[in-house]
Amino acid sequence: GKHVLGLEYFSPEEIQLVLSTAKEMKTIIHRDIKKVPTLRGKSIVTVFYEPSTRTRTSFETAGKYLGADVVNITAGTSSIVKGESLRDTLLTVEAMGFDAIVMRHKQEGAAEYATKVVNHPVIINAGDGAHAHPSQGLLNLFTLLEHKGHLEGLKVAVLGDILHSRVARSDIWGMRKMGIELHFAGPKTLLPRFLSEEPGIVIHDRIEDAIKDADAIEVLRIQLERQKAGLFPSNREYARIFGINNERLALAKDDVLILHPGPMNKGLEISPYVAYGNHSAIQEQVQNGVAVRMALLTLVLTGGKQA
Ligand code: CP
Repeated sequence: GKHVLGLEYFSPEEIQLVLSTAKEMKTIIHRDIKKVPTLRGKSIVTVFYEPSTRTRTSFETAGKYLGADVVNITAGTSSIVKGESLRDTLLTVEAMGFDAIVMRHKQEGAAEYATKVVNHPVIINAGDGAHAHPSQGLLNLFTLLEHKGHLEGLKVAVLGDILHSRVARSDIWGMRKMGIELHFAGPKTLLPRFLSEEPGIVIHDRIEDAIKDADAIEVLRIQLERQKAGLFPSNREYARIFGINNERLALAKDDVLILHPGPMNKGLEISPYVAYGNHSAIQEQVQNGVAVRMALLTLVLTGGKQA
């Protein structure tokens, strides 16, 4: 289909196409005049039912750099407050003629549902519950590729709150397709039951075992807002047993790259020294997020993407 719902629907060749297109797009971000006419005359609406700083702003920025018109709807300041349904909200924006709807919703499958409701607009999933966050998975891959020069055979440790993480699921689909070996670790209470050891995926009890010889460590945010009965182990225990600090970092490869999708709980899953240290690519991830979203918008709105 024409939509971007999750990386499970992308072939390795399509992922490669997004990454190579994003590399070209990144040059636009560094120009004095950040404006090209690629998407002139196209219109994009972002519809966000959950808070966002990076994803919403970078989709908006990406669309504007490419010459598209972009407007934003956030749940708290729209008629969603008055009880308007997702279906009616989608039909309303379709009636205004938008070519793409970038949406984030707390419910898994919300973006796929949207493809059944509207006819013309392309749907881009910017996060649906714990299911998928494909543009984040792609910007993770782009950042790894830029630093390591290749993806095949890399060892990436993914740490922390896997249970609630749509980023972890997008990593499983995206990184495995590109030949990356994934090592997961976190407290048992935050590891989902679906996670099983299949080829290329290893689950560790101790964070140290996952980090050993890693090319990159992706630290996930502890999603305190989704913890139903409070964090177990407690914040203090979590930081001590599972937090990434300089001491643990030393177990990885010398040129290990630190990734975090943001926002961070500094002092909980990651120490400030690691977050702002030499190995951190966290700010680069944000910039690469704009380039990757420029690539996605170009491919879906000019007919290049068929996944
Ligand atoms: N990484 C990410 O999705 O950040 P936001 O929630 O700020 O968009």
